[in-house]
Amino acid sequence: MRLPERQLAVLEAASATDERTIDEIAATTGLKPETVTGAAFDLRDEGLVSLVETATETLDLTDEGRRYVDAGLPEARLYRAGLALGAADAPVSMGQVIGEADLDGPEVDIALSNFARKGFGAINSGELTVDGDADPDADPEAAALATLADGDHPAVDDDVIEQLDSRGLVDRGESVTRSVTLTDDGVDALMAGVETTQTVSELTPELLASGEWRDVEFAEYNVEADAPTTRGGRKHVLRRTADRVKDVLVGMGFQEMEGPHADSDFWINDCLFMPQDHPARTHWDRFALDVDPMTDIPDELIARVEAAHRDGWGLDGDGYHSPWSEEFAREIALRGHTTSLSMRYLSGIAGAELEPPQRYFSVEKVYRNDTLDPTHLLEFFQIEGWVMAEDLSVRDLMGTFEEFYRQFGITDIRFKPHYNPYTEPSFELFGEHPETGEEIEIGNSGVFREEVTGPLGVDCDVMAWGLALERLAMLTTGAEDIRDLHGTLADIEFLRDAEVSY
Ligand code: PHE
Repeated sequence: MRLPERQLAVLEAASATDERTIDEIAATTGLKPETVTGAAFDLRDEGLVSLVETATETLDLTDEGRRYVDAGLPEARLYRAGLALGAADAPVSMGQVIGEADLDGPEVDIALSNFARKGFGAINSGELTVDGDADPDADPEAAALATLADGDHPAVDDDVIEQLDSRGLVDRGESVTRSVTLTDDGVDALMAGVETTQTVSELTPELLASGEWRDVEFAEYNVEADAPTTRGGRKHVLRRTADRVKDVLVGMGFQEMEGPHADSDFWINDCLFMPQDHPARTHWDRFALDVDPMTDIPDELIARVEAAHRDGWGLDGDGYHSPWSEEFAREIALRGHTTSLSMRYLSGIAGAELEPPQRYFSVEKVYRNDTLDPTHLLEFFQIEGWVMAEDLSVRDLMGTFEEFYRQFGITDIRFKPHYNPYTEPSFELFGEHPETGEEIEIGNSGVFREEVTGPLGVDCDVMAWGLALERLAMLTTGAEDIRDLHGTLADIEFLRDAEVSY
């Protein structure tokens, strides 16, 4: 029989009577454990060895656990500080004990709750007493941490380990040990004599140049062998969704818009025929910035927008007849939607092509003074878009969304009639959350009113929308809370593993 060198080495190091672990064989043969594992799998497939796997529980200190091995558990430090200040005889003020124990931040709460749990003493109306008979040195949790720090497995009750685990001081894991034993066929093969074959694991330029590749035997890849998990850098799931959205829209013939995050109220609201006394324009909703007003807005455009607000636009437009202040229109705020970009582009000042048909989009940040909850963030990304063409209808709008969401595997969007000051008709879009089954709002849309397009100088139909990127990501990843996607509460495992489906 002929075997590659490393397989023969493993075969010779294995025993017919004793199980030998991969690490033991690696030590005797001088091969790397990964190499031994690969060879052992191959030998098993050839029936020359048997392979058993045993799983053992592992226990490791976390960083916090390691810190307490050196500094002492916070509750023990609290106890000792109290003892030093005489709290075994008379109550001492908490502030004093905490200062003496040198505890700060979250350690204070940790110390207090465990101090009480372990019966080290009592806390009453801001004063601490310690039980002079308690003995933090005999604390099984501290002892277990010290044993672990020495690299040994502590011989303690399960509930102690449980407790350390729930405190985040240890990490429980599992490790698999593989051991090899020679089978009868393996013994026979060794008795009959095994020759080695030269195997090559990598094709090199030299092998190619010399033509030697024709004669060598290539090592097979073992795709079942364990490999360490490597966590390289990775694009954030939301960024990947944004990139995907851009690709889809470009594929649908759209061009990208860009523009300022901090913009004048004129572009954010007035152009959209939003009355200046609309609730969304008050300081409750908007992030106003204390900077100089915007001066470079075309005068004729201001005059036309003002006219639309005051007296109306078109044959039966009536306007609001409400106050309209140019000064307010020039004030700067963080944009609450990216429809400000659509206004800039439709007005012609951004240099867009405006001969119909045209399609534009952006995937950009917007800012709203909302209350944080599972579906709301103060900053989020909006997928803005508009299509300019003659004779558009609601069917065109619905068809565009159906085509767009289909690219993400979402085929059941629903539409609901809605009201926007700037579109007529208008409707909201809803999608069903894959985990909760709830209908969540994913966008808002409509056909711009004449009061919007007229002053901008556009004389054909424009349909437009603002879709929420985070909500789309919730549908595609199954995240149930928008805060899992980004921000301080985001779940790192989720960010590592989440797939962007398309
Ligand atoms: N600006 C709207 C929003 O925030 C979206 C929208 C844009 C609706 C354009 C209609 C037309 O939610």
